[in-house]
Amino acid sequence: MATVVLFLSLIFAFLLSISPPSSAQQQPLNTISSFNFSNSPWRPNQNQILLSPNSIFAAGFRSQPSSPELYTFSVWYHNVSEETIVWSATGNSWVNGSAALVITASGQLRLNFSGRNLWPQNASGNPNSTRLSLRSDGNLIYSNWQSFNFPTDTILPNQNINGSGITSKNGKYSFSNATDLLFNSTDSYWEAYKGNAFQNLNDSGTLVQANGGSFVTADLGDSRWRRLTLDDDGNLRIYSYDPDQRLWVVVWKAIQEICRIYGTCGPNAICISDGQNSSTSCVCPPGFKVTLGGAKEKGCEIKIPIKVPKNTKFLRLDYVNYTSGVNYTIGVNAKNLKSCEASCYNNTKCLGFGFKYDGLGYCVLRLERLIYGYWSPGTETAMFLRVDKSETDETNFIGMTNLLETTCPVNISLPLPPEESKTTRRNIAIVCILFALELISGVGFFWGFVKKYIKYRDMAQTLGLEFLPAGGPKRFTFAELKAATNDFSNLIGKGGFGDVYKGELSDHRVVAVKCLKNVAGGDPEFWAEVTIIARMHHLNLVRLWGFCAEKGKRILVYEYVPNGSLDKYIFQRGRGNFTESDEMEMDPVSENGQNPILDWSVRYRIALGVARAIAYLHEECLEWVLHCDIKPENILLGDDFCPKISDFGLAKLRKKEDMVSMSRMRGTRGYMAPEWVKTEPITSKADVYSFGMVLLEIVTGTRNFEMQGSTKNSEEWYFPGWAFEKVFKEIKVEDILDRRIKHSYDSRAHFGLVDRMVKTAMWCLQDRPEMRPSMGKVAKMLEGTVEITEPRKPTIFFLGDD
Ligand SMILES: *[C@@H]1O[C@H](CO)[C@@H](O)[C@H](O)[C@H]1NC(C)=O
Ligand SMILES: *[C@@H]1O[C@H](CO)[C@@H](O)[C@H](O)[C@H]1NC(C)=O
Ligand SMILES: *[C@@H]1O[C@H](CO)[C@@H](O)[C@H](O)[C@H]1NC(C)=O
Ligand SMILES: *[C@@H]1O[C@H](CO)[C@@H](O)[C@H](O)[C@H]1NC(C)=O
Ligand SMILES: *[C@@H]1O[C@H](CO)[C@@H](O)[C@H](O)[C@H]1NC(C)=O
Ligand SMILES: *[C@@H]1O[C@H](CO)[C@@H](O)[C@H](O)[C@H]1NC(C)=O
Ligand SMILES: *[C@@H]1O[C@H](CO)[C@@H](O)[C@H](O)[C@H]1NC(C)=O
Ligand SMILES: *[C@@H]1O[C@H](CO)[C@@H](O)[C@H](O)[C@H]1NC(C)=O
Ligand SMILES: *[C@@H]1O[C@H](CO)[C@@H](O)[C@H](O)[C@H]1NC(C)=O
Ligand SMILES: *[C@@H]1O[C@H](CO)[C@@H](O)[C@H](O)[C@H]1NC(C)=O
Ligand SMILES: *[C@@H]1O[C@H](CO)[C@@H](O)[C@H](O)[C@H]1NC(C)=O
Ligand SMILES: *[C@@H]1O[C@H](CO)[C@@H](O)[C@H](O)[C@H]1NC(C)=O
Repeated sequence: MATVVLFLSLIFAFLLSISPPSSAQQQPLNTISSFNFSNSPWRPNQNQILLSPNSIFAAGFRSQPSSPELYTFSVWYHNVSEETIVWSATGNSWVNGSAALVITASGQLRLNFSGRNLWPQNASGNPNSTRLSLRSDGNLIYSNWQSFNFPTDTILPNQNINGSGITSKNGKYSFSNATDLLFNSTDSYWEAYKGNAFQNLNDSGTLVQANGGSFVTADLGDSRWRRLTLDDDGNLRIYSYDPDQRLWVVVWKAIQEICRIYGTCGPNAICISDGQNSSTSCVCPPGFKVTLGGAKEKGCEIKIPIKVPKNTKFLRLDYVNYTSGVNYTIGVNAKNLKSCEASCYNNTKCLGFGFKYDGLGYCVLRLERLIYGYWSPGTETAMFLRVDKSETDETNFIGMTNLLETTCPVNISLPLPPEESKTTRRNIAIVCILFALELISGVGFFWGFVKKYIKYRDMAQTLGLEFLPAGGPKRFTFAELKAATNDFSNLIGKGGFGDVYKGELSDHRVVAVKCLKNVAGGDPEFWAEVTIIARMHHLNLVRLWGFCAEKGKRILVYEYVPNGSLDKYIFQRGRGNFTESDEMEMDPVSENGQNPILDWSVRYRIALGVARAIAYLHEECLEWVLHCDIKPENILLGDDFCPKISDFGLAKLRKKEDMVSMSRMRGTRGYMAPEWVKTEPITSKADVYSFGMVLLEIVTGTRNFEMQGSTKNSEEWYFPGWAFEKVFKEIKVEDILDRRIKHSYDSRAHFGLVDRMVKTAMWCLQDRPEMRPSMGKVAKMLEGTVEITEPRKPTIFFLGDD
């Protein structure tokens, strides 16, 4: 369908381009600064706009791009290359050329159309003096009436969100009471933390909530044009206008995984998203087919209706979750899979159940209906669908081992060629089954075929089954990289994984070229890992553009991040040990021409960005990836000090022993979780520990193994324990703050940020892995969207061997 539309619109665009430009476009634009009784009426074809004093916003009749004879009376961002409507008088409906905006003799502002007034509510003033004007903040004003009280799908900075709430342009989704995102006016798929209503978005990029809580945008602090919009896909996003790229960029969104939004697919269907560009597709589970006569969004129906409930079996779909609504869901405390299955089997209304292999007995029965299904590794759940015994379909949602492992080098350590080829065979088999199923059910209709092909290509990508090399990272030749780096002459870093050189590709992209040492495994494994790394996209991860595997060399080609690594900014160079008497006040802008000293809000943004990226690696991307070497050297700073994590995914290429000895050698012992030196399994919580240490360093501006304070050189001294004593026992937060910017610590403005960073760090640094929060939780703790309870003191567990 989409292809047809695209095709038709291409033809249309072509026809338009050869026909003479329409007369409306040729008329000179008539700009007014206010609209009053003597200007009335204002008709759509007048080509007139009302401009705000700062020229950023404009109001007027805008025609619909696809049918230019239809209009809305709107307010839009005018002074941007991507003009964006932020308000419409008629919401989702359109008027034609016969409409008019009038101020009547009695002073009422009306949008006349077909004998009715479509202006939202009664706007009245004095006809002799009242004017319609547009303020510089985008608020359209007429007497006591203001457009900020009647938002459509967008909230502008400093506009109160309370009141009537906003609705997506297509009318499917609403943000109700400024707390709940609703599908179909009733089903809530997202709620502001603790039901605390949003109040407004302020100029610096903070979304203020009623209780003083807040969400912050990725570009917090920058003065940019922003807007909070409920998009047609049901996600609530904050966009920020990037004047350099000249486009709107998403700097915050309520929902990370788009398939968790209700109503994307119809009943029984499963929503799958390609994490990269937030496109989604809907697929039918095994045993189901597309509802007859329906579009793919309409949903699926069972192929063999269940007549005898006892004559059924269950198909397991890994990582799939459905809802049935509160009245159709039963939570069972099941001992194991068998007993969970039995309770569903016994219930004639039960259509399936969700089960977690975590030994904690998560078992949820879904009765009567299956809606809002989606696939996501984050669910860690398998869905068991009830089908007739005679059903021959086999499950195509596989990939979960019975015990979920968060893998680091320990578990998947080394070459596994048999495994590798097995998965490839499996992957190909899945794709083949999908194709076969589809071809059988939807025979030979050309457009249908194309549509399905695209659908399954998307799904295959999502499931990580991409076998088309075109989608993978670029393979460079050694000669190419040699030329790009000028024979590896510009060494910019020496990391644990190898040396890094700066270079420039033939297309003038500046790159960082990392020559790996001691890489385990052969070519296929390297290729497989690199493909996985290249598939990870996040604002706060360094992009991998390509690689080279030639003559035993293993080289990765990354985007070049200009500002260097975090350690250069937070630690004082060449001044390792200093004592408390060594009080120095330094110019925060530059320290002997060195790097600028980062202020609190920049530090906070860095911490948050890093936390989000690690959470993405752990929880959201399609493979579980542990970083295993988080430290300030691996956090690079891009434009505007946007943090970018490097070296992620590389841990998989190494052995545990290697990691431990390497880290000791390089003196990064200080970042390693206790379990590295015990014989315990390494889980994602090891990264949480390392992050906690980095977080504490960001606050203190001191290396954790470089002593600060009088207890230095003591065997008993443990940095997190020391910080805990200062902050929570002695209540002297100032004592641990980076003394270079201590003086700029305005406790009112920064207390919240610093307090959250310190408390979160304490939780991350707990000795026992299970005491530490997950990285997703850590990000929320930093954001302030979950409550942080009082941490326990991080205890001393292990004193280095030096
Ligand atoms: C209405 O606006 C016009 C300019 O658009 C101005 O000349 C006129 O004085 C205004 N009338 C009133 C009553 O403000
Ligand atoms: C926005 O307005 C300013 C000042 O009026 C102007 O210099 C700039 O070019 C405008 N930008 C766009 C995108 O129109
Ligand atoms: C505008 O729409 C109205 C009814 O909605 C119709 O009566 C009228 O003819 C239309 N006018 C134009 C110019 O299309
Ligand atoms: C708008 O509607 C009002 C009330 O029906 C009428 O008095 C007025 O003449 C109309 N104005 C225009 C320009 O259509
Ligand atoms: C609109 O409000 C004004 C005063 O606020 C009132 O006089 C008028 O009758 C109202 N008109 C309608 C149609 O409600
Ligand atoms: C508008 O001005 C006229 C004369 O200039 C006056 O008669 C009329 O009462 C005024 N209308 C209002 C609502 O003040
Ligand atoms: C919205 O909240 C502001 C304060 O934040 C208050 O002044 C205003 O009256 C509220 N508006 C509505 C419609 O509730
Ligand atoms: C919104 O608030 C109203 C009144 O406070 C309440 O009845 C309604 O349930 C709320 N809606 C949601 C989705 O929370
Ligand atoms: C929306 O809700 C109504 C009843 O409230 C229901 O009849 C309708 O099927 C729902 N639509 C969707 C798409 O779920
Ligand atoms: C659940 O059932 C109760 C009682 O039958 C009813 O009042 C309530 O509206 C139902 N809730 C939903 C979401 O259907
Ligand atoms: C299922 O039903 C059978 C008999 O109808 C009963 O013996 C059994 O205990 C039930 N199992 C569960 C889990 O309810
Ligand atoms: C499955 O989806 C429901 C409804 O969205 C949600 O409440 C539940 O937490 C999800 N289960 C898992 C394991 O994610």
